[in-house]
Amino acid sequence: MIKLTINGVERSVDADPDTPLLWVLRDEIGLTGTKFGCGVALCGACTVHMDGAAVRSCQTPISAVGDSAIVTIEGLVGQGAGKEGLAVQAAWRALDVVQCGYCQSGQMMSAAALLTENKTPTDEDIDAAMGGNVCRCATYQRIRAAIHDAARRLEA
Ligand code: FES
Ligand code: FES
Repeated sequence: MIKLTINGVERSVDADPDTPLLWVLRDEIGLTGTKFGCGVALCGACTVHMDGAAVRSCQTPISAVGDSAIVTIEGLVGQGAGKEGLAVQAAWRALDVVQCGYCQSGQMMSAAALLTENKTPTDEDIDAAMGGNVCRCATYQRIRAAIHDAARRLEA
């Protein structure tokens, strides 16, 4: 059994240590907000936070998690959410960012991680932080605007 702390709750998982965290989140724990896209760390759909940093859960074996706190989209905007997650959620709604939605939990996780580190990101900072999050619906301009909006909400 491997112990994981996910969204503030300790879980015991009976899985091979090499199992990707994404598989455990979706198939073992039922947290399906985190999406499978490419499976090879190229699209960002599977992004979660590990001790606050954005990581690709499709390429993170559960053996690598250790005592680190994992936060998924359900924790980012759900009960016990932090201010960055709530600001990102409010901005995403206000600017109507989402199109099909498939990539958006990963986008929001990366955006919140950026705002935790950098309260006033420039366009260049946003492009650098979000470059690994692909959106087939090309919502990139709205995402950039929403991150600026979320930064203003955090400042207010
Ligand atoms: S599914 Fe993990 S980066 Fe694409
Ligand atoms: S909103 Fe459709 S893939 Fe991003």
